[in-house]
Amino acid sequence: MFGPIQISPSILSADFMNLEDAIRLIEAAGTDWVHVDVMDGHFVPNLTIGPPHVAALKKTTEVPLDVHLMISNPEEQVSWYIAAGADLITFHVEASDDPAALIQIIHDAGCRCGITICPPTPIEEIKPYVGLVEMVLIMSVNPGFSGQSFIPDAVSRVAQVVSWAEEVGANPLIEVDGGINEQTALLVIQAGADVLVAGNAVFKAANPADAIATLRKAGDSPRG
Ligand code: DX5
Ligand code: ZN
Repeated sequence: MFGPIQISPSILSADFMNLEDAIRLIEAAGTDWVHVDVMDGHFVPNLTIGPPHVAALKKTTEVPLDVHLMISNPEEQVSWYIAAGADLITFHVEASDDPAALIQIIHDAGCRCGITICPPTPIEEIKPYVGLVEMVLIMSVNPGFSGQSFIPDAVSRVAQVVSWAEEVGANPLIEVDGGINEQTALLVIQAGADVLVAGNAVFKAANPADAIATLRKAGDSPRG
């Protein structure tokens, strides 16, 4: 909350045949994280990558892997992603029967934990967990695909989480994912976001390094 802005480019928008080039490109641009979108074709209507890819990414870069699990039954699979080298695992509150227990499982395995919520889900569903995690991810598109338009409700949802975190004396990172560009970055940063996921805004840009710098610069605007 109101920390230095960190950028987490989503490799979902990169060329899957040239992922190493994509990693080198964002490393050279000084990225903070690599955002890894795991989709199972069940929790979301798209299928992407799994543990072997996370392990390959881990061998390729020192940049921390920000693994966003868009999967059903995350309890059954988190250990695979931790073993593969995820530095932070974010799961969906909608996908877990017992989010507090899953947070504990992830922590016990020595991994940082994030929790996230889809745009249509009442934001209150995440409230009990705001003080238990290292990161809260506010989805600003319905998960499944890159290149969608930002859903403006995300701004007030960020502000709501900030206020709940303050109430319980917690200071989780607040990440926003979906439709982030120069304009929407400003809106969520002002509301208290610290970590910006960007897929198309980085990898479809003429100059991805400039795109990362531009998003980071949005953090110089007044906040709070
Ligand atoms: C959506 C994914 C996002 C997505 C972001 O389900 O979680 O991380 O790839 O892509 P852009 O920034 O293009 O919306
Ligand atoms: Zn994501």
